[in-house]
Amino acid sequence: MKRVRVALCAGWLAVVAGTGRAGEETVVLRDAPGRDLTLARCVICHSVDYIEANAPVMDRALWQKTIRKMVDRYGAPVTDEDAATILDYLTAQYSAAR
Ligand code: HEC
Repeated sequence: MKRVRVALCAGWLAVVAGTGRAGEETVVLRDAPGRDLTLARCVICHSVDYIEANAPVMDRALWQKTIRKMVDRYGAPVTDEDAATILDYLTAQYSAAR
């Protein structure tokens, strides 16, 4: 849990330092199974900052709700199979409230 917080702080610092808006993706998702799929599906409409920023309050159920919302409300092109992989990834890597 501690490791997660430290990584998050580093991410925020990069954003606060002004590098986050330079047109370059400075927040890179943690390397783990499901990362590439998550990147492919979840940065079509917004940056991965959204994932980092929400991690402190997220758990599996909330990520599930969020993914559903992206699909149902915003039309994210995510199949049920993709969603399961992305959910596992986000739960393992970006759920500080787990
Ligand atoms: C089709 C476009 C689209 C795709 C693809 C998409 N999102 Fe979103 N996402 C949005 C929009 C629109 C918002 C709301 C932005 C706002 O309110 O400023 C949003 C907001 C969010 C938020 C902020 C919290 C919230 O609930 O509003 C998170 C977290 C998030 N998205 C995660 C994801 C994840 C994870 C994926 C991949 C499964 C994803 N998004 C794919 C459009 C998309």
